[in-house]
Amino acid sequence: MSEEIVRLEGVNKIYQTGDTTITALAKTDISFHANKLTLIMGPSGSGKTTLLSILGCVIYPTSGKVYYKNQEVTKWNEDQLADLRLKEIGFVFQQFNLIEPLNALENVMQPLTLQNIETHTARERSIKALEAVGLGERMKNLPKKLSGGQKQRVAIARALVSEPSMILCDEPTASLDSKSAKVIMSELKQLSQTGKAVIIVTHDLRLREFADHIIYVEEGHVSTSIKNEENYK
Ligand SMILES: Nc1ncnc2c1ncn2[C@@H]1O[C@H](COP(=O)(O)OP(=O)(O)O)[C@@H](O)[C@H]1O
Ligand SMILES: [Mg+2]
Repeated sequence: MSEEIVRLEGVNKIYQTGDTTITALAKTDISFHANKLTLIMGPSGSGKTTLLSILGCVIYPTSGKVYYKNQEVTKWNEDQLADLRLKEIGFVFQQFNLIEPLNALENVMQPLTLQNIETHTARERSIKALEAVGLGERMKNLPKKLSGGQKQRVAIARALVSEPSMILCDEPTASLDSKSAKVIMSELKQLSQTGKAVIIVTHDLRLREFADHIIYVEEGHVSTSIKNEENYK
């Protein structure tokens, strides 16, 4: 069994707005491991982003405990969690979230610059990350000069440059044509095989062929992670 990266114990999330109470996530116990690519699927509004945000230590659960590499991070304060996210967790979003006036290389360098890593080292590592996603020739391009698929690869390079143990993606292929979506998924799959837990929220049934595990979320209820038998045929 590969290393456990993140574990939820009795975690839920309840939003109270006026006199309505929304259970975005019902009480959940689940864990995610290195070297595995997991898909989180389910209808809109079912709690997928809430689950991903708790796994990424972006929001605190209403109750329950989150363990990151066996440390209880629900005890940590906002600053400690910000530091954990910067160093240990890579995020990839549907809308890429690149900084438009910065070129591809400068975008990828951002997380390292924020960690006060020396510019020379940050450059070297960012070049390697861009080469790893096949964009070695595009380093000087501004985002507006890149296709959707290329922008998402820059975003992946930015997510992996800090050598995180976990990569969280929210609908990473939703803005892409199916050919680019396949390229992105193959890259994420490869990344998972380098000792990372890769967790992807998606609506796209075609992505199932890349998954080791699939979990379904419905009205805040998370199914136990099921092994993707398709991969074992
Ligand atoms: N910050 C918030 N305040 C109030 N309700 C929220 C908030 N975030 C999410 N919700 C509600 O929680 C439920 C789950 O949302 P979400 O996790 O975004 O679902 P999904 O990503 O599956 O579409 C929805 O009913 C949504 O309206
Ligand atoms: Mg969502």
